Parts: sequence; structure tokens; C-alpha cells
Amino acid sequence: MEFKKELQNYQEIINRELEKYLRKEQCLEEVLNQAMEYSLMAGGKRLRPILVLATYKLLTNQTNYDVCMPYAVAIEMVHNFSLIHDDLPGIDNDDFRHGKPTNHKQFNEATAILAGDGLLNNAYMVISEDIEKTTDNKQLQAKIQIFKEFSKAIDRMLAGEYIDTEFEGKKITIDELEYIHQNKTGELLTLCVRMGAILANCNEEDLKNLTEYSKKIGLAFQVKDDILSEEGDEKQLGKPVGNDKERKKCTYVSQYGLSGAKDILNTLTEDAIDCLEKYGEKATFLKELAIYIANRNK
Ligand code: IPE
Ligand code: IPE
Ligand code: MG
Ligand code: MG
Repeated sequence: MEFKKELQNYQEIINRELEKYLRKEQCLEEVLNQAMEYSLMAGGKRLRPILVLATYKLLTNQTNYDVCMPYAVAIEMVHNFSLIHDDLPGIDNDDFRHGKPTNHKQFNEATAILAGDGLLNNAYMVISEDIEKTTDNKQLQAKIQIFKEFSKAIDRMLAGEYIDTEFEGKKITIDELEYIHQNKTGELLTLCVRMGAILANCNEEDLKNLTEYSKKIGLAFQVKDDILSEEGDEKQLGKPVGNDKERKKCTYVSQYGLSGAKDILNTLTEDAIDCLEKYGEKATFLKELAIYIANRNK
């Protein structure tokens, strides 16, 4: 299947699945549920859940993703929690995302904080319900491993967000910059690939190779985000351009300049593709996904 079609196909699968978790009932906290839905269904690219599914498919050749779905849904919930809080006045103070007012602009700050908390907690509810239903002992062990990695990755994302925010305007080393990016963005992307691989019951060598791939695309993803914040088209991007510079963020563009950041992005993308060489044609989608990450305009 052509890459774009396959990507769209995956996005539709994820969107259909997420729909099942929306709360529509009438209750006093109805607006809080609406705020969670507002961000979760705002039109994200669904890259993280797609990584879970595509990695699982690479290793199993299966397109029945039932076993992956709770983890795909959970990671997208966590991702949207991170975006809602990232946009808050106390962090990036951004007014637009996905071409719409950010959660705190559409609702209010208290609601946005709680909608973020709610999505984070919903993720754990989805996972714990799935674990409770698992009877096969080997699969149960795999899921406990995933649970541990899931919490650890969120811990790292929060650490990255903290440093990113507190180091605005400060001079940092190249290693520190890489540390921020790997933590705030890379760790969740690595988690997605590893969840797909662990659910596929893969061997150590595959897990190592794919983890390496995920680290390259994880960093590449944030380097591209830095580039888009410098020269993206606000309309296409659906979020502000120039905001990193305005807040004096430490980014690959502030550190290496636009062309330096682009060189690094290209190298990371080539390295990511190299990690998949041994999988041949089966890995075409994941290879093209690395290129998509580098070339995306939103
Ligand atoms: C944006 O992530 C935040 C970063 C980690 C750079 P995405 O660009 O994957 O967000 P959506 O969900 O597709 O909007
Ligand atoms: C987002 O980082 C990382 C997380 C939300 C964890 P940025 O602040 O650079 O991403 P955008 O540009 O707002 O999407
Ligand atoms: Mg930020
Ligand atoms: Mg931001």
C-alpha cells in the first residue's frame, strides 16, 4: 500500500478506537469530559499509536491489532495530556493548537489542568482494565513490563518538560539540549515502538534494533518541531510559529542555526532507516515514517 494511504488507514483505525472511550453522559462534570474530548479528537497525527501498531505488524505480519489497542489508546491520551499542559500559561503559554484555541483558551485554566490530569489517569484506567482481563501468564508478564516502561517514559517526559521550561533564556551545552529533547519527546516515541515489539513477543535483538530506530526518530521528531517553530507555516501547522524564539527556548535551531538543525535531522533520519535494513521490504512503512517525520509540515 502507498505510504500516505497506509498512514491514513492507521489514523482511521486509531480515531475509531478513541471514539469508544469518550464520555457522553450527562453529569455535573460534563464540561470536563468535553474538554478531554476537545483535545483528544482535535486532529492530531496519531503518530504514537501508529508506531505501536506498525511495529507490531512488522514483527508479527498481523493486521489484527486487538492486543495493541489499549496501549495505542493510552499513549495517545498521555500525549494529549502533555500537549494540554505544555500549552498552559505557566509552561509555553500558547493560544492555538490543531488550528483551534488551546484547551485553556477554549475552556479555562482550571478545566485544562484537570482535563490533562483526566487524560493521564484515563490512560492508566485503560491499561489496568486490559491487564485485569489477561489470563495468559506470558502475556501478563509482557504487559507488566510495558506498564513499568509506560510510567517510566511519562516520568522522563515530565522531566524534559521541566528542564525545557526552567532553562528558557539560559545557555546550555549540546549534551544538555539533547537530554531535554530525548526526555520531553523521545522517550514517549521509544515507548511506543517498544510496546509494539514487546506485545509482538519479540526477541532481544529485534527489541534492541527497534529501540535504536525509535531513539533516532524520537530525536528527529523534536528537531523537526524546532525547525517548524522557526520556519513553518502557521496555517498548515495549526500552532504558533516563532514561539520558541520569543520564549528564548533552547532548541536545535537556537543552538545550530536552521541549516545546522536540518543537517542533524537528515543524519538522524538516515540512521533511523539504517536500523531497519535487516527487515527488508517488511519495514517499508516504518522507513517511510522516518522520512515523513523529517519532511512533515504539520
Ligand atoms: C507535538 O507532537 C508535540 C511534540 C512532542 C513535539 P505531535 O506533532 O505528534 O502532535 P499532534 O498530536 O500530531 O498534534
Ligand atoms: C512538546 O514540546 C513536548 C511535550 C508536550 C511533551 P514543544 O513545546 O516543543 O511542542 P509544541 O511545539 O508546543 O507542540
Ligand atoms: Mg514546550
Ligand atoms: Mg509547546
